[in-house]
Amino acid sequence: MDSPAMLASGILGYVVETMQTIAKNGAGAIVSKSIGAKPRKGYANPTIVQVHCGMVNALGLPNPGIEEFVGEIRRAKQVLDVPFVVSIYGYSAEEYAEVAKKAARAGADAVELNVSCPHVKETGSEIGQNPQILMSVVRKVRAAVRVPVFVKLSPNVTNIVEIGESASRAGADALTAANTVRAIAIDVETGMPILSNRGGGLSGPSVKPIALRCVYELYERVKVPIIGCGGVTNWQDATEYLLAGATAVQVGTAIATEGLGVFEAISTGISGYLRRKGYRRVEDIVGLSHRS
Ligand SMILES: Cc1cc2nc3c(=O)[nH]c(=O)nc-3n(C[C@H](O)[C@H](O)[C@H](O)COP(=O)(O)O)c2cc1C
Repeated sequence: MDSPAMLASGILGYVVETMQTIAKNGAGAIVSKSIGAKPRKGYANPTIVQVHCGMVNALGLPNPGIEEFVGEIRRAKQVLDVPFVVSIYGYSAEEYAEVAKKAARAGADAVELNVSCPHVKETGSEIGQNPQILMSVVRKVRAAVRVPVFVKLSPNVTNIVEIGESASRAGADALTAANTVRAIAIDVETGMPILSNRGGGLSGPSVKPIALRCVYELYERVKVPIIGCGGVTNWQDATEYLLAGATAVQVGTAIATEGLGVFEAISTGISGYLRRKGYRRVEDIVGLSHRS
């Protein structure tokens, strides 16, 4: 990748023209919205609420389904000049593998397994919190496709290292840490939860120290590359993730708060930092904070 800052899944990742604009604005790679075997409507509004230092969302994985989305993948591959990663979810190992196979056949450069969505039953984090189920999903997908398989982990677990090690043993080529943190927001006037699903996932600056800790712990125990995700808003955040052990970062919520210029700002900021500190490449600072 020309830049270590990728677009995170679910943020503007449906429409090819939008993804193209994001790539033109300096994203190193694009990750699509999570796609399942069948179309899914998602939850009724409200699905997103802004909170202090972030947002809580429960969209409910709305998506057109893989049959419809293969056309978008093909179109994306024609127009994007950066790698295109298709995020997928399923309700069984077979379903994950089937969707992954269709995405790869249509031209996806990699697949990212969403085993960490905190607000849809029987998929997402219900899979990613159980090492045995997770391993069967990763093995099935690994056997079904030749492209790299990323596994996006949940921060809502007691021991993320155990889960990351399981994913890696089962064949994951990279780990993305992390998805949103389980959360809720309540309207004091109505006295009720604001989101139609009640609970949701917290993203933005408030989750950065949590996801950063996930990356830091994973780096000490797993060999596969780690992609940092959660609250990256500027080049300093991205650099913290690199120093913790990530080789790239994903940016989501900051697009809403900082605009599309955030990608260019991150990559220029990191380049300046590397120059100032006498390093030549991003790889030179990956995991540096672990030295004694
Ligand atoms: C509105 C919204 C929709 C999201 N949809 C997905 C999704 O479909 N699949 C997924 O793996 N993550 C999804 N996420 C999680 C993000 O990819 C990311 O892990 C999380 O927001 C933390 O990064 P951020 O703080 O930079 O936003 C979504 C996040 C938001 C805010």
